[in-house]
Amino acid sequence: MHSGIVPPQGVWWKPAGKQEKLWVSIAFIWCLVLFAMMPFWHLKGAQNPSGIRSRVVPAAYLERVNRFVTEYKVGEENGYPIVEPPPGAEVYLLAQMWRWYPILKLKKGVTYTVHLSSLDLNHGFNLHPVNVNFQVLPGYDYGLKMTPNEAGQVFIICNEFCGIGHHTMVGKIIVEDGPSTAAVEREGTYE
Ligand code: CUA
Repeated sequence: MHSGIVPPQGVWWKPAGKQEKLWVSIAFIWCLVLFAMMPFWHLKGAQNPSGIRSRVVPAAYLERVNRFVTEYKVGEENGYPIVEPPPGAEVYLLAQMWRWYPILKLKKGVTYTVHLSSLDLNHGFNLHPVNVNFQVLPGYDYGLKMTPNEAGQVFIICNEFCGIGHHTMVGKIIVEDGPSTAAVEREGTYE
């Protein structure tokens, strides 16, 4: 019977045996290896976001997205604007319960800086069928460099549970071949 009143039986207070010491040593060394891997992988793993990062007030980001949509809108689908930014432009994509806004129309082989932020809570940016995953958080603006390498349609799926409509949170990117039909080519600015 073990309790706080009755002391446990055994030899646990005696010095550790050889095997136990060996095991604790191995475990400790392994802890150090894992600990060292954190800074090592941060520097060498090439898996950290390569783009820009900044703080942004969600309402300000929404306003920036709306300006982006107004400026480059070329069509509409199911009430969603289709937006075609010129090559090299700053692209603004919004995550919100439960949509990705707007629909993007991009050119194959052209590099864009795609900004991602959320209006409400944590969403997950997942390109399907391409294996690209990224956390999208309110209050943070991540600008990721992306170069579509295949024409066709890519779907944006939310892979971070965000409530009752999570499974319906699907967006779309249309990738086209050939030169841009967007009228002006200009450097995008981020304000
Ligand atoms: Cu957004 Cu799940």
